[in-house]
Amino acid sequence: MRILVTGSSGLIGSEAVEHFDRQGHQVVGVDNNMRRVFFGAAGDTTWNLQRLKKATSRFEHRELDIRNREGIAALFKEIRFDLIVHCAAQPSHDKARDIALLDFDVNAVGTINLLEATRQHSPESVFIFMSTNKVYGDAPNEIPVKELPTRYDYARPEDHEGIDENCRIDRTLHSIFGASKVAADVMAQEYGRYFGLKVGVFRGGCLTGPGHSGVELHGFLSYLVKVAVTGQSYTVFGYKGKQVRDNIHSHDVIRAFEEFANNPRPGEVYNLGGGRENSVSMLEAIDLIQEKTGNRIQWAYTDEARKGDHICYISDLRKFQNHYPGWRITRSLNSILEEMVDAQKQHKPA
Ligand SMILES: NC(=O)c1ccc[n+]([C@@H]2O[C@H](COP(=O)([O-])OP(=O)(O)OC[C@H]3O[C@@H](n4cnc5c(N)ncnc54)[C@H](O)[C@@H]3O)[C@@H](O)[C@H]2O)c1
Repeated sequence: MRILVTGSSGLIGSEAVEHFDRQGHQVVGVDNNMRRVFFGAAGDTTWNLQRLKKATSRFEHRELDIRNREGIAALFKEIRFDLIVHCAAQPSHDKARDIALLDFDVNAVGTINLLEATRQHSPESVFIFMSTNKVYGDAPNEIPVKELPTRYDYARPEDHEGIDENCRIDRTLHSIFGASKVAADVMAQEYGRYFGLKVGVFRGGCLTGPGHSGVELHGFLSYLVKVAVTGQSYTVFGYKGKQVRDNIHSHDVIRAFEEFANNPRPGEVYNLGGGRENSVSMLEAIDLIQEKTGNRIQWAYTDEARKGDHICYISDLRKFQNHYPGWRITRSLNSILEEMVDAQKQHKPA
């Protein structure tokens, strides 16, 4: 297959490149290292691009901006893709506030540029769009929770498995990032439903793995591991540190994409996170990482939660598992953390 991966130097994109290259496919990656523009030197993804060039055999990188409509169209005219994995984004909830136009141009306009190029030039291809659970805004916070010693959890038994795809996406507080992703998410669905393109939309929980260039504003586990290993300090924002996230390894994300690509259901939407098994609160994550690194994390607490932040978010994975019974979570939270600590110790530049 000829496969296009956007955001190919990022966490999810780089995992996709390696995975599909290993299988002998021709993979073209598009990434202009914009993560550095968003987050400064710590967000620079050059290390990952260099690593990919060494680790792959047929991978080809293009320093292209997904906002460049003509450039994207030219790439699609040049190569007829069988699969498009769209992961390029401005990924931070908090950052978007300061760069609202840039955030929208990358997340929403960049996505329609790719969808339209697909429709014009590769209409038979499968198009995977990496969306986010922030499309639900703060609606998940309406679910009653109970306070436990180290975390919040859902109070009602019917909520035990977490948030499913029926959670509403409007009339909630999203953040600017969440709203630009809603635009992209709905447009991607539309290209599936209206035009019949083989589009799949995946609403990520906390996606993680050693390929993350973790920064304070994005990639909490990766950043927390970095802080633990390098001795910097960490700030926990609100909810007594008991807010819960479900964490999925980038490998399990790509395996889900692969299952969808083999048997696409046009216009479908899936929640994709680590599920209850891989859920952790901030307080629990700090403890676990201290245990694994042997270092004390210096952390401070501020009472004010991040605007629109989820109190307890666990992805209900049942819809995807029903549609694709061959898929399951293969990497536990423990193994994810161990791999991240090893990667951080060996290291890549800070
Ligand atoms: N990491 C998470 O916890 C998480 C959670 C939910 C959803 N997501 C979504 O998953 C996708 C991938 O996230 P990630 O964690 O791999 O992010 P990442 O920042 O590691 O990777 C994104 C890559 O896209 C590139 N990029 C950004 N703007 C670009 C542009 N205009 N043109 C070309 N390349 C550009 C960046 O340089 C970066 O390498 C994003 O859509 C993100 O919103 C991530």
